[in-house]
Amino acid sequence: MTDLLKQDIRTWIEQLRSGDVRALARAISMVENRAPGWSDLLKTLFQHSGKARVLGLTGPPGAGKSTLVDQLARFYRKEKHTVGIIAVDPTSPYTGGAILGDRIRMQEHFSDPGIYIRSMATRGSLGGLARTTADVTTVLDASGRDLIMIETVGVGQDEVDIVRLADVTVLILVPGMGDDVQTIKAGIMEIADIFVINKSDRDGAEHVEHEIRALQSLAMRHDGWTPPIVKTIASQGVGIEELAGAIADYEAYLQKGNLALNKSVENWQERLVEMLRDALLDKARTQLDNGKLARLAGEVAEHKRDPYTLVEEIAANLGKRWFQIDHLGIAVKSLAAAKSIYEKLGLSVSPEETVEQEQVRLVMVPVGESRLELLEATSEDSTIAKFIAKRGEGLHHVCLRVPDLPSAVARLKKDGVRLVSEEMKIGAGGHRYVFVHPSSTGGVLLELVEA
Ligand code: CO
Repeated sequence: MTDLLKQDIRTWIEQLRSGDVRALARAISMVENRAPGWSDLLKTLFQHSGKARVLGLTGPPGAGKSTLVDQLARFYRKEKHTVGIIAVDPTSPYTGGAILGDRIRMQEHFSDPGIYIRSMATRGSLGGLARTTADVTTVLDASGRDLIMIETVGVGQDEVDIVRLADVTVLILVPGMGDDVQTIKAGIMEIADIFVINKSDRDGAEHVEHEIRALQSLAMRHDGWTPPIVKTIASQGVGIEELAGAIADYEAYLQKGNLALNKSVENWQERLVEMLRDALLDKARTQLDNGKLARLAGEVAEHKRDPYTLVEEIAANLGKRWFQIDHLGIAVKSLAAAKSIYEKLGLSVSPEETVEQEQVRLVMVPVGESRLELLEATSEDSTIAKFIAKRGEGLHHVCLRVPDLPSAVARLKKDGVRLVSEEMKIGAGGHRYVFVHPSSTGGVLLELVEA
């Protein structure tokens, strides 16, 4: 990061933390769109986060979630809490519809800067909706909001992943959902800390309650909490105070016996795995750009290559710096004698390997990320034998690992660089290699090997 960018981010974060809604909106967009610098921003913001209460509210379409969330927001505003609302709609392909919803809701709260509403849809969440929601939550948290409500539409796996981020999860049900609770995925029933039966003046409210109780009797929660059932009529503001009370009760329960921390540790375990998976996949993708993925897929499709070895190779190369000194080649008279010094030092030496076309026998001695290659001639005609005859034992060549050997060779040839031989050969470990003549390198025999 440049100093200018650092300075810029610092100013921006100060604005954001002082309650500047524009700075907040800009930060959220940057994170949501994974715009350049998003991770640096989050690294800084994370230090300022961790203070907000996070509520997750979900339920089937038509359960009246938005109305309920708005009522809750109003309730908390009366208590002088600042509120951030993230409305997530995983079913929406773009934010268009969500933005419209935003505007209607924003108008109502327009005069109140203490409420900030942000809609998110599938589009623009390159990091996956759950992860992006988590990151947006961090931004809102760092901005100093006391309470963040994550509202999601639907009851699928996406919603489970999203509301899992919350300290408290509220599942909103309504009477008359057909098979009622049966239609709700078991997964989301399990993560509900509080059940709400909204529109509870409707017929069937008792039935929904009965079904929830029946499900609850089947499984005991490992934290010992029995989720209460709160009846509301959100459109009339009925039951909102009771719901806020139930939320406060559960928060108090979490504070006892380190449950809040345990829950957070569990969440981070999952989130870290997800983040790691994304980061590793990004690294893998850099190995496979410029059509390389398509070429490899073609080779697998034609059974020229097996996918298992291929994936192992890609995984083994993750995070390797592409240009690096692969090894230093050392010409020796006797492998046995030469390798003993390294063994005495405690380094491990590879089994001997013979490369016929070079008339050498060799061992590799891994040293950190690089290696020493000890080379012994297998015949008088070997280049190693000639080298030793002329100059004695010693450093024979330097080997660079390059990302794409054919294109490296093509570039060198184009510039008139002298290669020891024109074609690439297969050497130790099955890697392709070429040698660049010392006359082109300032007197060093340079081996290039493919990563
Ligand atoms: Co070599």
